[in-house]
Amino acid sequence: MRMLIKKSNGTLLDALKAENIYINVPCNGRGTCGKCKVKILDSAPPATMAEKNLISFEELEAGFRLACYIPSDMTYDVEIDEKLISDKDFSIVSFYEHFDDNTTLNSMDGYGVGIDIGTTTIALELFDLRDGKLLKTHTLLNSQRAYGSDVISRIDHANKGGLEELNEKIISDLKTGLKVLLNDEEIIKATLAGNTTMLHLLMKADCSGLGVYPFTANFLDMKVGDLAELLDIPGQYTLLAGISTYVGADILSGIMHTNMHKNKSICILIDIGTNGEMAIGNQDSIITLATAAGPAFEGGNISCGLGSIKGAICQVNPDKTIKTIGDQEPLGICGSGLIDAIAIALANEDLDDTGFIENDEEIISITDHIFLTQKDIREFQLAKSAIRAGIEVLMIKYGIEAKNVDKVYLAGGFGKFINLENALTIGLLPKAFNGKIYRVGNTSLGGVRKFLLYNDIEKEVDYIKSIAKDLNLAHDPLFNELFMEHMLFEQ
Ligand code: FES
Repeated sequence: MRMLIKKSNGTLLDALKAENIYINVPCNGRGTCGKCKVKILDSAPPATMAEKNLISFEELEAGFRLACYIPSDMTYDVEIDEKLISDKDFSIVSFYEHFDDNTTLNSMDGYGVGIDIGTTTIALELFDLRDGKLLKTHTLLNSQRAYGSDVISRIDHANKGGLEELNEKIISDLKTGLKVLLNDEEIIKATLAGNTTMLHLLMKADCSGLGVYPFTANFLDMKVGDLAELLDIPGQYTLLAGISTYVGADILSGIMHTNMHKNKSICILIDIGTNGEMAIGNQDSIITLATAAGPAFEGGNISCGLGSIKGAICQVNPDKTIKTIGDQEPLGICGSGLIDAIAIALANEDLDDTGFIENDEEIISITDHIFLTQKDIREFQLAKSAIRAGIEVLMIKYGIEAKNVDKVYLAGGFGKFINLENALTIGLLPKAFNGKIYRVGNTSLGGVRKFLLYNDIEKEVDYIKSIAKDLNLAHDPLFNELFMEHMLFEQ
């Protein structure tokens, strides 16, 4: 796609946003992800150090620059790769396993909507409240993604005067989703969950405490209000309660969905994303924590990395054959493909257990134009180690060894696609979890459904909050020690 970007204040990336062109940028203009690369067709300004680090010499010569680095101080003729801006190519997965318990249906006349607001995607379900029947589902992308793929970028933007803008985005997304979901059904109630940042942005709440130590939330309690005030439709809404600033209502909802708080067996719930959120426990006590994995699992900071879009390599096989999302031409590699590629490189001894590339090419080739560099492997190691160290801290603080954990629930879209054998091989998950891992999907949406449909459910939320203790990993020496240890790959 070629276009003229007129002179304005800010960077080319800002100017593109002003034209309603949103590039998927994991770092939100911090100059670290390299995903805002555009080709300047007239005279490109001299390349900055960051551009030299993130763009190949040949591409710099051809006029490629980072849109977040170029001041929009003149009119530029640019070419933008459409796959960077095409939302429709995103693969959105929203499913969840069902868990039986003895909860009874709170039957009532009318319809209800369950909503999970994810950092990347938003999922909505419409139910007939008389019999609890699921009538329709709809998923869409969270258009706040244009302001960065992780919660830190969103908090940053909100705190720099962008709160109103981010609030408008989420409200508009929810209205769009509801328009698709509803025909002439009258909504009596809606239940919503999401991480603490998403719920703050939805309620236009001050986010200044979320991003700085000691990481305080403006609100964590359940909120009940009038849907007319929030989304201009009749009915009542409930926002589920969160546990802490980084273990939000989405995880509480996931605990409620999987019944961890009702069983004797000790389970771990893990949701892997840019923020790895996890919980361990049973009916007596639960410990939660969040660990900053960074954007590598979503393709951020990886030279050929991509989110889960069509054309992203999501599977690499030992015979070097690949599978892409949508069976399209390979455009790059997403998180699940990365795990496979690294497990295979370790098995073939192209990579040693410190993460050092041992072959002469000094890259791990996946196709003739998609590869991993030494820097990519280091980025991946940081992400992997953050998740694994979080799991280890959780088990140590709970006083249990991996072999004694009864069940491991892997939540989220990423959990659905990863090759578990390879995840165990590279040490993302402890080997003792083998045979106990269940892919449970969007447990936040599952918990929302339960809250919407069943009796006495508020008591469950209160009970989970009363037995859940959150660990803050900032400055935790145990976490730092384990983080260093798990930078290595297990073989
Ligand atoms: S947005 Fe420009 S490098 Fe990430």
